[in-house]
Amino acid sequence: MLLKKTIKEAENVIILNHPLIKHKITILRDKNTKTEDFRRIMKEVSLLIGYEVFRNLETENILVETPLESALQPKLKKNKICFVPVLRAGLGMLDGFNNLINDAKIGHIGLYRDLKTHLPKEYFNKLPKNIKDMTVYLLDPMLATGESAINAVNLLKKNKVKKIIFVCIIASPEGVKNFCKYFKNIPLFIGSLDKKLDSNKYILPGLGDAGDRFCGTND
Ligand code: URA
Repeated sequence: MLLKKTIKEAENVIILNHPLIKHKITILRDKNTKTEDFRRIMKEVSLLIGYEVFRNLETENILVETPLESALQPKLKKNKICFVPVLRAGLGMLDGFNNLINDAKIGHIGLYRDLKTHLPKEYFNKLPKNIKDMTVYLLDPMLATGESAINAVNLLKKNKVKKIIFVCIIASPEGVKNFCKYFKNIPLFIGSLDKKLDSNKYILPGLGDAGDRFCGTND
């Protein structure tokens, strides 16, 4: 639990520290970034985050014929991987991840935030058959209160998924602490750890409503 430890000391929390990731998140934050650019940059930043998330994927050597000779060379092991974006904003991360591993299965979880209670309500889920045997990467760009993340992880656990990795672009300290209270063994990758939540449970400085900005629904 994160009661005594600081966020940076928590073994399951990985805060990425790469100038390209930081640079692109700054563009996402800018309220003047147009929808089309927001989408493109969200894909790019997700791809960069994915590069770090997949750092420990296992490889096995296969024999390859180069134009010059045969050589034993590493290839990704056949992993059973599933990407689960949390609708809507998580869809913005899917392309980047899919560009890195394009034979992954894809599931969807739809959650919306009740405007009064700020608590997540599930309105949709469609998960692949045999998801319990897969490593599932939950994609949700904003870890705000942590309640949606906790809800989504619980849904996967109900489906008997054993290997879960949570990936977000921006997290609040409150959200990370809440998440780790329940899931201290689930790796949590974060592009940027922001300052705090505001009274409406938006992340400060954040980037606003990621779903609206990705979908252009508030333009
Ligand atoms: N969801 C968002 O899209 N933005 C926030 O700041 C918090 C939750």
